[in-house]
Amino acid sequence: MTDYTLLLRQAKALFTGHTTADLANCSALLFASLDDVNWAGFYFFEEDTLVLGPFQGNVACVEIPRGKGVCGTAAAEDRTLAVPDVHRFPGHIACDSASRSEIVIPLHSGGKVIGVLDIDSPVLSRFTEADQAGLEQIAALVEERVLGNG
Ligand code: SME
Repeated sequence: MTDYTLLLRQAKALFTGHTTADLANCSALLFASLDDVNWAGFYFFEEDTLVLGPFQGNVACVEIPRGKGVCGTAAAEDRTLAVPDVHRFPGHIACDSASRSEIVIPLHSGGKVIGVLDIDSPVLSRFTEADQAGLEQIAALVEERVLGNG
């Protein structure tokens, strides 16, 4: 089980005010700290398309239209999606065929969804309610300290 109190403290200590560096380090922290994770990173909107941002893991698809895949759906509906089995999610975009479950958390600035935090796992049903709550706190910290909502 992940110690999210510790992870939040570590994330807070990472942020320096350099946006790309802070997002890159945040994805590295998540990738290194979470068990059974094969991708962790960010997508940000350019007009109506989510474009790949800093991440750790295998090469990934660069563009995801709003409303498509798990990422585009979470962004369009402005809610966290924890998908226990991505093969059962209609329209799932398979960047890495090893991925079996996924969690996507929308990121906001100025009251609007500007991107997502996306984490993939090769294990079915990897993300529990406790993971969702902890990762939503990480996402809120990123909004506050990195994306200028503080
Ligand atoms: N699986 C995602 C695409 C992004 S990769 O997982 C990194 C989706 O369906 O939106």
